[in-house]
Amino acid sequence: MEVTKLIVTEKKAEQFSGDLLVFCVEQDKKNKLLKCDNPMVRSWLEQQGSLAEFSAKEDEYLLLYPQAALKEADGPAFFLARRLLLVGLGEVDDKKGDELRERCRQAGGIVAQQAAKVKAVKVMVCLPEILGLRTKAVAECFSEGVLLGDYRFLKYKKSDPKDETYQGLVEIRLGVSSATDAIHKGARQGQIAALAARQARDMANEPGNGWTPSHFAAHARMLAKKYSLKCTVLDKDDMKRLGMGGILAVNQGSTEPPRMVILDYRPIHASQILLVVGKGLTFDSGGISLKSAIGMEEMKYDMCGGAAVLGFMQAIGEERPDLRVIAIVPSTDNMAGGAALKPGDIITHYNGLTSEIVNTDAEGRLILADALAYGVEKFKPDYVVDLATLTGAVIVGLGHHRTGVLGNNDELVGRLLAAGERSAEPLWRLPLGKEYTRQNESQVADMKNTGGKTAGTITAAAYLEKFVGETPWAHLDIAGTAWEFTEKSYIPKGPSGTGVRTLLELVRRWKKEEKVEA
Ligand code: BES
Ligand code: MN
Ligand code: ZN
Repeated sequence: MEVTKLIVTEKKAEQFSGDLLVFCVEQDKKNKLLKCDNPMVRSWLEQQGSLAEFSAKEDEYLLLYPQAALKEADGPAFFLARRLLLVGLGEVDDKKGDELRERCRQAGGIVAQQAAKVKAVKVMVCLPEILGLRTKAVAECFSEGVLLGDYRFLKYKKSDPKDETYQGLVEIRLGVSSATDAIHKGARQGQIAALAARQARDMANEPGNGWTPSHFAAHARMLAKKYSLKCTVLDKDDMKRLGMGGILAVNQGSTEPPRMVILDYRPIHASQILLVVGKGLTFDSGGISLKSAIGMEEMKYDMCGGAAVLGFMQAIGEERPDLRVIAIVPSTDNMAGGAALKPGDIITHYNGLTSEIVNTDAEGRLILADALAYGVEKFKPDYVVDLATLTGAVIVGLGHHRTGVLGNNDELVGRLLAAGERSAEPLWRLPLGKEYTRQNESQVADMKNTGGKTAGTITAAAYLEKFVGETPWAHLDIAGTAWEFTEKSYIPKGPSGTGVRTLLELVRRWKKEEKVEA
């Protein structure tokens, strides 16, 4: 897809001659009114009295032909745009903060959906003035919502060259009364977040034969070049030399070589180090503990943690915060070839801990363990966050609406919860504790790789906990949200890109000197 131009403009809506002109309409229940900043639209709404199909409820919209609807009898049309879209915001006066941000994102998503419906390539959105939200944030969340909603993955749809598939938006104008620096910055922030999440979706949409560990490496190298990051790629020999028995074990049954991809963003002024680790399992067949055939194709998404982490690094490269950020993506597929890992095998991780393999389908923790132990030892980060499509159990517990978060540090978890709320990627904390850790005890090794039938998400995290030492750490289990995430206007079917915006929000709110209390 082409890069969509995003423009903040003071130009009047009446002069916009593109495809789709958008106004927002608020409900004012007390006065039984529909409120719109544009006087023409406002008076038109008043003239209509009540509209059966549009009461400006949140997520409601009305698509109009301005040439036909909004004009005086026999007079010229008020608007030059080909189509007019009214998007309902519902009642907003009593709402604040995160909720209003989400309203704007969702309204932005509707703009993208309706633009696709009428094949609009140039749209202008007149940003609403919302009591409880600065216009900067309105600009941010609208651009985020429109760009996230305007996502499609067409790479493999080339069957009919004559077919004129809609390719998405070419230009988005955000109409404001005064185009301040703050509003420009807001729009830009929304754009950075959305494009990073879309990049993660692109990786995830690639099939197992289109996105291998080497593709992760190549993508990271590209990012490194573009944003002057340091990229290191460990190959199989490096892993052998370093004793990364977890990722090597998972890779045994595959003909596709593994990679451990490391990206280091190191600004001049940085007092703290954040390490992010993402599971980059490019296809999870389960290995010898083979998964059942139904739905197995979805296991190409088992690299969504890695995709989120690299999407996030793209945003870091754009924003360049005063915080050193290091990303590690351990990557392999999990196959059942003749040399594959077997139940009962015992492996040795990077930090020397041994693990009895009970189920080869519990492979994510094996590759993450090496990456975490290596990253913590090598970079001595102040904080570690890992993201992984780790357990089916998290879907049983939280469904597709919240990411599970577990960690050894209340403040880090608290910050992540807040960042998730603000970016509408909500998280829910689950506990850790010695009772759960005990479920992973093995008769023959330091631990085993599954903790039994119960508390699967927690025992998986308890496994990882052994590899971060005392470092403040949080683990995000995105198995339920990386795809099939809560359906909304700006989250299309397929991979959501979840985690990218949460991490970005975490960094955006990072207070440089603030030290997380243990
Ligand atoms: N990648 C899966 C987890 C998963 C399952 C993600 C469904 C998304 C949807 C992971 O590698 C896995 O297979 N986990 C097992 C662990 C079990 C064997 C202890 C699971 O959750 O069943
Ligand atoms: Mn698995
Ligand atoms: Zn997996």
